[in-house]
Amino acid sequence: MEAKETEVDDQDAAEEEEIDLAPVHEILDSFPSRNRRYLIPMLQKVQAVYRYLPDKALRLLMEGLELTRAEIFGVISFYPGLLITEPGKYIIKLCYGTACFVKGANIIANKIHETYHIHPGDTDEAKLFTLQTASCLGNCGAAPMALVGEDTYGTIDPEKSIELLSAYKLEDAPEQQAEEAASE
Ligand code: FES
Repeated sequence: MEAKETEVDDQDAAEEEEIDLAPVHEILDSFPSRNRRYLIPMLQKVQAVYRYLPDKALRLLMEGLELTRAEIFGVISFYPGLLITEPGKYIIKLCYGTACFVKGANIIANKIHETYHIHPGDTDEAKLFTLQTASCLGNCGAAPMALVGEDTYGTIDPEKSIELLSAYKLEDAPEQQAEEAASE
């Protein structure tokens, strides 16, 4: 939990950029009461809006639900799907369920690390990929399984995983080049 909090402190400066907090007020008002038992669905809704949980949004939830920072981070640290830093454009969910693991999911993770320098939980420098592990994705017959964004892939292997990630990278290249050109 402490590591997650430190990460948030580190990114405070970056987050001083304005974000529209109106959706967080709407989320707080959309529940029958400001009861802490609604915390998890509220966090999920906030993440659905911003793709992660910006610190400013968390502060509003803390105020609204009268929670301490330790309490809210205690909950967040329990759910790996809740993100406190902005993820890459594509979230890779690599299945680490038993069937996928015995068929080499960890070897695929190593290959992704070798190529993109990311461990599970990390985002690559280009902010294109965030790697996560997942429990059984429900199609063990096609192990090892992975999701990339909304797309599902089965019977992948280390080489295949890099090939399919390269396709996303390629697809994204014109967009990235335009962003780089605009910032020059
Ligand atoms: S263990 Fe991976 S899909 Fe079931």
